[in-house]
Formats: sequence, structure tokens, C-alpha cells
Amino acid sequence: MLHIHNLEAFYGSSYIIQNISLKVEERQGVALLGRNGAGKSTTLKSIMNIEPKVKGDIHFNGNPIRGKKPYQLARMGLGYVPEDRRIFADLSVVDNLQIGQYGSKNRVTPYGIDEIMELFPLMEKFKKRKGGQLSGGEQQVVSIARTIMAKPKVVLMDEPTEGLAPIIVQSLAESINKIIKELGIGVLLAEQNIQFSRKLTQYVYLIDQGRVIFEGTWDDFDQQPEMREKYLAV
Ligand SMILES: Nc1ncnc2c1ncn2[C@@H]1O[C@H](COP(=O)(O)OP(=O)(O)OP(=O)(O)O)[C@@H](O)[C@H]1O
Ligand SMILES: [Mg+2]
Repeated sequence: MLHIHNLEAFYGSSYIIQNISLKVEERQGVALLGRNGAGKSTTLKSIMNIEPKVKGDIHFNGNPIRGKKPYQLARMGLGYVPEDRRIFADLSVVDNLQIGQYGSKNRVTPYGIDEIMELFPLMEKFKKRKGGQLSGGEQQVVSIARTIMAKPKVVLMDEPTEGLAPIIVQSLAESINKIIKELGIGVLLAEQNIQFSRKLTQYVYLIDQGRVIFEGTWDDFDQQPEMREKYLAV
């Protein structure tokens, strides 16, 4: 579904992503692991054509997409949950969610509020509040739910667990599992939280300094404990 081949990305003259190839299929959870500064966010931003200058092949659903605008990618079914969440402080949770429906324009019928509440039961507690009254974790849940509203085929998530309380992480894991297994959405999960990633994904890419230094299943990953000590802060 999302096939990336020899991706390179630059911030000005800084060569950040130095040849990354990866794949995410529908109904598949894929982890993109790496320590601070490894290039996780830059990889996702490169796919979404936000900020860095990009080279290489990016195909989505069989079509080349490099150079397309983020809103065009959203309409094609490629969702993105950025690290900074971008919740509108003055809008209610429900209004924030409804904005996500526009992402699907002319492509599919988006999910309704009731359906999305069922997928993310955590939001019931705070759905009447405004964005600005939510904790960081609650904002993260709304941000993910808003992206799912548009019924994407694949979603890129940038460190969703960063700074979240354990109880929210647990509930978020259940929601994302349903998104993958029941809705059949592919998820590319940029994370440093190995326990969380392991629950949701079947395949792992470990990156460092803008390169893939390992790829394989979690079983393969577990057979190389030294790698995880070297390249992840665990
Ligand atoms: N806007 C920018 N301009 C210049 N360099 C940048 C910019 N954003 C990131 N970088 C550099 O690119 C490299 C990769 O950063 P990136 O944010 O992709 O890492 P990351 O894996 O997402 O890390 P983290 O876990 O801290 O979010 C780092 O060396 C960082 O300093
Ligand atoms: Mg990052």
C-alpha cells in the first residue's frame, strides 16, 4: 500500500534521511523505532511532503506520490498524526473531530461521531470540553481519532505515547489495535516505546542517523538484544 524506496531527505544542506526503504500494507502495523534524533519524524514528514526536501520513490496504492500536497495525500487515504497534535483550543472535542471528516472529501464516507466514540471510548469522558481544556494525553487521543474520521487506508503516527499517562497509553493501544485489526487500516508507528509498539505491530524497522539498521519481526528483534541497547535508550 505504502512503498518507500531509497528515501533521502534534507533540511537545507543537512543530509538527514540517508536512504530508507520501507513498506506498510493495509491491516498491518509497522514500527519505526529509533532514539531521539534518529530521523523518525523526518521520515514521516518526508512522506507527507512537509518541510524537508525529499528524493526517492514513494508509492501509495500503486501511484507515485512524492511532491503531492499533504491535503491531496489525505484525500487519497494517507493519514498523518503529527507530534504536535494541532488541536483547536477554542473548538469542542466534537468540532475538532468533525474537521477530520473533510480529509476524505469525494473518496469515502467518513466515520460519524458515534462510530468514532465507540472506537475511542476514552473520549466519552471529555467530549463536551474544548480543545484547550484537555490534557496532553487527551489531545493526543483526539488528534488520532480526528485522523481516523476520514477513513484513511494507512496512517502515520508520530510518537503517540510521548508524555502520556500509562492509563491513556493502555486505552490508546486498544483503540489502535482495533483500527488495524477491525478497520483494516495500515499503521506506521514512529515510537521509542518498545512495549507499546510490540502490542500493535508485526514488523519493525530500527533506524539510526537516517538509515535502517535493522528490519524484521519482533522475534528477529528479540534475538539481537545488543542492538537495542546500542540504538534505543532502554
Ligand atoms: N527543521 C529542522 N531543521 C534542521 N534539522 C532538523 C530539523 N528537524 C530535525 N532536524 C534534525 O534531523 C535529525 C532527525 O530529527 P528527527 O526529528 O527526524 O528525529 P526523531 O527520530 O523524530 O527524534 P525524536 O525522537 O526526538 O522525535 C536530527 O539530527 C535533527 O536535529
Ligand atoms: Mg520525532
